[in-house]
Amino acid sequence: MKPRHFLAFSLILLMPVMAYAGAAQKPIIDGYMAAAKAENAAFSGFSADRGKAFFLAKHDASPETPSCTTCHTADPTKAGQTRAGKDVAPMAVSKTPDRFTDAEKVEKWFTRNCQSVIGRACTAQEKGDFITFMASL
Ligand code: HEC
Repeated sequence: MKPRHFLAFSLILLMPVMAYAGAAQKPIIDGYMAAAKAENAAFSGFSADRGKAFFLAKHDASPETPSCTTCHTADPTKAGQTRAGKDVAPMAVSKTPDRFTDAEKVEKWFTRNCQSVIGRACTAQEKGDFITFMASL
């Protein structure tokens, strides 16, 4: 193959990857999308802005963990820390590409963290907004 052709061919292969950052997270987002539609007939799609507001919001359920940012920091591109001082890799997909790719892990932590921060389970819309925000960074 001539170098020029090889370059063109490589670009064609790369295009779908460039067009959709967050492709690895799509199956999980699609799953929450179906659940969000089932929860709310008026559901019209996930929003990174709503996910950001949710991530930064302070809740009253627990004085020790008022917000997701308590452990994940207010800047998701930075590493966070558990209350015991253990490092938590950045939540932003651009920094930790395998975030939100293992459905079992995602559900386990949403269940645990939503309960401790908000005092209830998160809705499918909140989960989808959250991942959409993290995949947009
Ligand atoms: C008490 C500390 C703490 C708080 C507060 C916290 N988290 Fe987490 N979170 C963790 C730890 C620890 C992990 C697992 C380690 C890792 O994935 O790096 C994690 C992982 C996750 C994951 C799994 C990510 C993946 O890779 O699939 C999700 C989703 C998540 N958290 C969402 C939230 C949300 C939403 C909130 C706020 C409602 C929140 N977390 C608040 C500590 C916390």
